[in-house]
Amino acid sequence: MKLSSPISGAIFCILAGQGVDATIALDVKSSSSIRQAASTLAYDMVRYYTGNNTGDVPGNLPSPYYWWEAGAMFGALVNYWYLTGDTSYNNITQQAMLHQASSSEDFMPLNQTTTEGNDDQGFWGMTAMRAAETKFQDPPSTEPGWLALAQGVFNTQAERWDNQTCDGGLRWQIFTWNKGYNYKNSISNGCFFNLAARLALYTGNSTYSDWAVKAFDWVYNVGLISPDFQVFDGTQNTDNCTAKDRTRWTYNAGVYLLGSAAMYNHTNGSALWRDRTMGLLNATDVFFVNDTMYEPCEGGPKGCNVDQRSFKAYLSRWMADTAVLAPFTHDIIMPKLANAAKAAIKVCNGGDTGTQCGQRWSTGAFDGSLGVGEQMSVLEVVQGNLIDEASGWVSAVQGTGTSVGNPNAGGGDRRNPNGLVITLPTAADKAGAGILTALILAGVVVGTVFMILP
Ligand SMILES: *[C@@H]1O[C@H](CO)[C@@H](O)[C@H](O)[C@H]1NC(C)=O
Ligand SMILES: *[C@@H]1O[C@H](CO)[C@@H](O)[C@H](O)[C@H]1NC(C)=O
Ligand SMILES: *[C@@H]1O[C@H](CO)[C@@H](O)[C@H](O)[C@H]1NC(C)=O
Ligand SMILES: *[C@@H]1O[C@H](CO)[C@@H](O)[C@H](O)[C@H]1NC(C)=O
Repeated sequence: MKLSSPISGAIFCILAGQGVDATIALDVKSSSSIRQAASTLAYDMVRYYTGNNTGDVPGNLPSPYYWWEAGAMFGALVNYWYLTGDTSYNNITQQAMLHQASSSEDFMPLNQTTTEGNDDQGFWGMTAMRAAETKFQDPPSTEPGWLALAQGVFNTQAERWDNQTCDGGLRWQIFTWNKGYNYKNSISNGCFFNLAARLALYTGNSTYSDWAVKAFDWVYNVGLISPDFQVFDGTQNTDNCTAKDRTRWTYNAGVYLLGSAAMYNHTNGSALWRDRTMGLLNATDVFFVNDTMYEPCEGGPKGCNVDQRSFKAYLSRWMADTAVLAPFTHDIIMPKLANAAKAAIKVCNGGDTGTQCGQRWSTGAFDGSLGVGEQMSVLEVVQGNLIDEASGWVSAVQGTGTSVGNPNAGGGDRRNPNGLVITLPTAADKAGAGILTALILAGVVVGTVFMILP
């Protein structure tokens, strides 16, 4: 994930279709109305996806979208199926996830390894976890299960926990040559915490809950979560994590909220995790203005970049899930999602279809900003209103979850994160292995030269 990308932002701020009458009807009290609206929103989102065209790469979105956002989009499509029952996009979603999972079963595909950060990998990992929790259509038996892919991401990230600086935490970046390697940020640690908590809930294995506790404690103790549960962006390890970038984002609040709700549920309702869940939920109030959800960059001088325009999707998604796992939050969360959805749908009267969504839900009409993030955000807040009708969270602990796991999934890059040693599994691949290794070594050399010459 990148902090800012003004160029791509400008490209996608196309002023088109403004003034078209609202064409998506939504009655948040009617599930058929919600399903109908979600279907239109999902259709307009998937139109951006080209990965299932002949010659294109499954799982990738075209420029200007980064790889992580595709992972997040497939998470929205798993949810779309789970909440509406519409299977239209299940096959492209399954294909995309399996293609990007990589041979090491941890979403570290070679095409991404020069730029991939812990948060990027984390988003794909949470999508695999969601597939396990909802009993999304399983991969064929020759492929790893959804649970195994989530475990693969967890395993690689647990090995990257960095005790060398700031007494712990994950760095933003995986590879030394990437800008942001010295940054320890809330989203990277939050994805890891969220995934660990949900793996604990699903499997009952205490390794995961121990790591969830450790990750939350580190983030809290270093001051990235304040005593009143505001979540700040991150901190540089170059000053021992003293100074903080205190920018707040909806998705950071959401990733810790759902992780805490999962720990609350896993611990059968402990007071500690109840307080944390409640505190984090109360702290989301800053993102609710005039009965709708608001991303602080919307009011800033530079606006929101392509990544940031998708963030409201994740707070919406994770609030709906929190209402299920921590039932004491249900009656606080559901009215907020209903009101936010009512406001959000009003901005979906733009683009060539006349149903595409803008970005700022507070404007009451399409604001000229079009894209995957805009679509995904409204889709998640609208479909989140169906959460009470969904079939329910499954787990291996309850005997309801059947996704195939592999506690040892994830590999290749684990022992030496900069070595990029990828093990190729089949004999047929062996001939290509030498070439691949050579290419990887060349990549490392280029990376090193780049670092020496600033
Ligand atoms: C890609 O998937 C979409 C949505 O399911 C579908 O409409 C389209 O026909 C697919 N394209 C190809 C080339 O299969
Ligand atoms: C990597 O890129 C190549 C060339 O574009 C493509 O054929 C391959 O499918 C990509 N692999 C993944 C996992 O995206
Ligand atoms: C855990 O979540 C389930 C729904 O999946 C819910 O029925 C149960 O009450 C929750 N447990 C606690 C302690 O709240
Ligand atoms: C629990 O998870 C850890 C980490 O993946 C693994 O090493 C261990 O074997 C698991 N224990 C069981 C009982 O599955």
